[in-house]
Amino acid sequence: MSHNLLQGKRGIIFGALDENSIAWKVAERAKEEGAVFVLTNAPVALRKGDIFRLAEKTGSEVISADVTQVDDIENLLNEAMKILGGKIDFILHSVGMSPNVRKGLHYTELDYNYLNKTLDVSAISLHKVLQTAYQMDAINEWGSVVALSYIAAQRTFSSYSDMAQAKAMLESIARSFGYHYGKKRKVRVNTISQSPTKTTAGQGVGGFNAFYSYANCMSPLGNASSEQCANYCILMFSDMTRMVTMQNLFHDGGYSTMGISDKLIDDCFVCTGDCHEKNTEK
Ligand SMILES: NC(=O)c1ccc[n+]([C@@H]2O[C@H](COP(=O)([O-])OP(=O)(O)OC[C@H]3O[C@@H](n4cnc5c(N)ncnc54)[C@H](O)[C@@H]3O)[C@@H](O)[C@H]2O)c1
Repeated sequence: MSHNLLQGKRGIIFGALDENSIAWKVAERAKEEGAVFVLTNAPVALRKGDIFRLAEKTGSEVISADVTQVDDIENLLNEAMKILGGKIDFILHSVGMSPNVRKGLHYTELDYNYLNKTLDVSAISLHKVLQTAYQMDAINEWGSVVALSYIAAQRTFSSYSDMAQAKAMLESIARSFGYHYGKKRKVRVNTISQSPTKTTAGQGVGGFNAFYSYANCMSPLGNASSEQCANYCILMFSDMTRMVTMQNLFHDGGYSTMGISDKLIDDCFVCTGDCHEKNTEK
């Protein structure tokens, strides 16, 4: 159902890899809500090819950009403004990658070159996008930038590894740049902290199925789907949320506020209570 929430708005959507990507759902909803936009992803993701199907479906063009490369971002912003016929109203940063997670390195044995890469791709890239747009004055007044985060920024999820630091930094960049961009151009910058979602990046994290089921059992509303996340992103891009900025917005069915739930007590909790004793015996 369309409410024309993004009628007349121009956007850039980072991170649609395949049909499961959160960015894919955001692009479909943005189209339904009347936006025009360009899609972008890293060259290696474009080679996979799925994004061109999305481009055809949404009548959008694809521009290759490695989000860690400022030249690529500059080119992306210039091309997007040319193609769309003016400055940008919204940007979705839906990008994350950790070589430490990919290679299955334990958190106590991180490779520091990989850690730098994790932070660059998954967090500093948001600063690069914002700084480039700020210096080019590429975003219209009351524009909206949303990046996707995860609650491991605040709490420990043992196998989320260095992505936890990346998400903490991502949220911090949204707060810090949100101040400067808000002052300069009334541009708002927020992060949405999403439930575990079955995507390529999500399922790459060790123990993902346990994350997913635990959060689902814990949350009064259950896990938020990628389609529901897309709806929230659309709302954040719309003029209905003009005074929301510098926030980390939980979109998780209530998970972030829970301690324990009836569902977990009655159906899902299987520990016999002696796991620590067993550990100490080892
Ligand atoms: N899936 C989850 O459980 C979950 C939960 C909370 C937050 N998130 C976040 O949502 C965002 C989107 O992830 P997703 O779950 O849709 O998975 P996804 O794998 O579909 O998307 C990740 C995207 O990042 C892109 N990317 C990686 N390196 C890049 C680079 N150098 N330049 C440009 N793009 C690059 C990939 O090509 C891919 O399109 C990520 O920030 C992720 O951390 C995901």
